[in-house]
Amino acid sequence: MNAVPSLAAPTDSAASRYVLGIDTSCDDTGVGVVELLPSGGVQVRANRIWSQQVHARYGGVMPELASREHVERIDEIMGAALKEAGLSVEDIDAVAATSGPGLVGALLVGLMYGKGVAQALDVPFFAAHHLEGHIFAAASEEELRAPYLALVVSGGHTHLFDVPEEGKYVLVGATRDDAAGEAFDKIARLAGLGYPGGPAISEAARRGNPDAVPFKEPLQGQKGFEFSFSGLKTAALLAHKAGAKPEDLAASFERAAVRFLVKTTVRAAEASGRGTVVVSGGVAANRALRAAFAATDLHAVFPGAGLNTDNGAMIALAGAAALHTGRSSSTLDAGAEAYAPLARLLAESPAL
Ligand code: KG4
Ligand code: ZN
Repeated sequence: MNAVPSLAAPTDSAASRYVLGIDTSCDDTGVGVVELLPSGGVQVRANRIWSQQVHARYGGVMPELASREHVERIDEIMGAALKEAGLSVEDIDAVAATSGPGLVGALLVGLMYGKGVAQALDVPFFAAHHLEGHIFAAASEEELRAPYLALVVSGGHTHLFDVPEEGKYVLVGATRDDAAGEAFDKIARLAGLGYPGGPAISEAARRGNPDAVPFKEPLQGQKGFEFSFSGLKTAALLAHKAGAKPEDLAASFERAAVRFLVKTTVRAAEASGRGTVVVSGGVAANRALRAAFAATDLHAVFPGAGLNTDNGAMIALAGAAALHTGRSSSTLDAGAEAYAPLARLLAESPAL
């Protein structure tokens, strides 16, 4: 990674510090290492992900199997991440692990493992919020300087936040039903395009006609900034039953979903006066979404390659920000939280 964006003003620390980040919130075992330079710049030194295959035969994530596989893999993935970074575990200066939201059993594995490493090394431990991690993934590309909007679009979330100042998150809008990535996954399955659906839809869409299936814009005329994907899903089902070709369905759905996400975000930017939007989460990897944001007047910042979907480096980036700004103290007593709204967690806990 060439870019060395800065998190904040330089500190008096003379040497680089290394932050280990762990995410086991769902079915990916992610461990990353970030170098925090004395200047406040950050560089992703390693990002290793073990994507569990065991769930494929069930058509969805089986929580107990996810926890077990995290236990089996985490040591190996941390070893691989340290090797990729060219470091040994003693070089680590701080550890961050996701404490929520996510599957409790899965979260506990990374959280306990991270606390163990931090305690053994006697370094600070930061309990990180999964969504803040997604947002910080974009710090791999560019310095994030509030105020800005943050659109997190993944398999589990569709959240639009206003970030008026560092560490403060105001929820502007969220999905009323399915998450954006979930809609990609379900429509891909319906059209027989495979899993994960996002990349499959994106690939098929290149060969399809986006005008073939007329999707209606969801929540048309709304005053707020909410999202909804169930209407698009139902329309896709009807079109599929009526014999729409999978690639036409993919192209038409992708365009409708992208237009809806971009239009809602642009309206929120106009209403709040924000000029920058961070777009992150698995769906942020989508080419059409990136192109559509590039065509707006907004300055859109996306995570670097490999940092859109769940990963450990994004948690290390959030940990690096905590370490650098001194905004939070070590949180060894943090527990796993299945439901952890970002705004609430920040208001109530010293975690991040
Ligand atoms: O961030 P992530 O790993 O999971 C959650 O935290 O939920 O995101 C996974 C989601 C899946 O729904 C996947 O289909 C979607 O991100 N996704 C995409 C693309 N790549 C992944 N959606 C649209 N276009 C893509 N290129
Ligand atoms: Zn995620």
